[in-house]
Amino acid sequence: MNTPIADFVTKYANSDATRLHMPGHKGKTVLGVESYDITEITGADVLYSADGIIAESEKNCTSLFETAHSFYSAEGSSLAIKAMLYLAITASGDEKPLVLAARNAHKAFLYAAAWLDFDVQWIMPSEDTHLCSCLLSKDEVENAILTANKKPSAVYLTSPDYLGTLSDIEGVASVCKAHKIPLLVDNAHGAYLRFLPEDQHPITLGATMCCDSAHKTLPVLTGGAYLHIAQNADPYFVENARNALASFASTSPSYLILSSLDLCNAYLHEKGKEDFADCAKKVADLKTYLLSLGFTLFGDEPLKLTLYTPDYGYFGYELAECLSKHNIESEFADSEYLVLMFSPSNTPLDFERVEQVFDKIVKKERKILPNSPAPILSERRMSVRKAMLAKSETIPTEQAAGRIAASPTVSCPPAIPIVVSGEVITQEVIKRLLYYGVTQVSVVKE
Ligand SMILES: Cc1ncc(COP(=O)(O)O)c(C=O)c1O
Repeated sequence: MNTPIADFVTKYANSDATRLHMPGHKGKTVLGVESYDITEITGADVLYSADGIIAESEKNCTSLFETAHSFYSAEGSSLAIKAMLYLAITASGDEKPLVLAARNAHKAFLYAAAWLDFDVQWIMPSEDTHLCSCLLSKDEVENAILTANKKPSAVYLTSPDYLGTLSDIEGVASVCKAHKIPLLVDNAHGAYLRFLPEDQHPITLGATMCCDSAHKTLPVLTGGAYLHIAQNADPYFVENARNALASFASTSPSYLILSSLDLCNAYLHEKGKEDFADCAKKVADLKTYLLSLGFTLFGDEPLKLTLYTPDYGYFGYELAECLSKHNIESEFADSEYLVLMFSPSNTPLDFERVEQVFDKIVKKERKILPNSPAPILSERRMSVRKAMLAKSETIPTEQAAGRIAASPTVSCPPAIPIVVSGEVITQEVIKRLLYYGVTQVSVVKE
């Protein structure tokens, strides 16, 4: 598979050209990568009206994912999420659009609701669960469609979630198809699912559009992501995708990121299947080993290792500290969970080091924790847009009872709002905010 963007950039970097164009570093070294950091010079194509090397590279990506088109984002899934919602909403032609969304949406979804002014009907999990999770059956989604006060412009799911749980995309897609509603999936954590021995990518399973943060699980620089559109989707989506992306994006995309997306195509084509199968096997072996030591595993994502730690006598963040002392940095930890993310770029030594540290952790008496408070739906007093665009102030969480949430106050990761902009902050909400360490909140000024 060819790599037209990386080839162009490398040739230019080696050409010793006098750069009388942006960026201001002129290719001279500060970090060491500047010679590859170019702007849209002649021959470099233009991301949001691509017809040259970027279009050629996206064609490679499209063939790898077998989509109608896979578009590049140099600004993460955060950009692709806004673009796919823009497409679904404009396609529906509804002036007061409604989106049905699982409650564990990343805050990029809320910004999209504010800027696009759509109404959100949240689908809550039927079982008590963690803030990051919202596992829904296809029947629950169908029930939400049937009881909604109007036909939704889209159904929106986050899968995999931050803890590594996978939703029944196939089942939900069949329901959405029957009701002629596009299914949009935040697959920020699951670009690699396409390359497993059993392809579990949302587009393969029937989603209409999805975003993948290529940078989270593939060898791509931070910020590199995809917006995928399925082959059987309304052609309107592909025709208007570049405009949709351009509406929210910078006009100066990073060619370092674009080059890494480009090179990743060749890697995936040549070694993707083999490497991801091998890595999934290594993670599965490590999971089996940790189970044999008595740890409790959570989630079903093949490259994510999530432990429910109180059963082993520890808070999640205590185990993260323990790993950190051995120079192993985790993805996420709270009082109950520890999340480790692996990829084929991890060496066999990385796996060994993790195993050795866990070997030394002595099992203690099970920690009895109060259940982490389940996500709740608070009364909505304003639309997301109105609340986010209102004059706001930041106040201590303890003093926020009765106030209306303004911009989403959430830590990153996992960036999932506990209370949504426009909802009233109740004592129950305050309890949850404090549980997750949120001591200040942004509220609408009275
Ligand atoms: C579930 C989920 N969706 C979307 C995003 C945003 O992705 P990006 O950082 O690529 O913009 C994240 C980031 O952590 C995420 O966890």
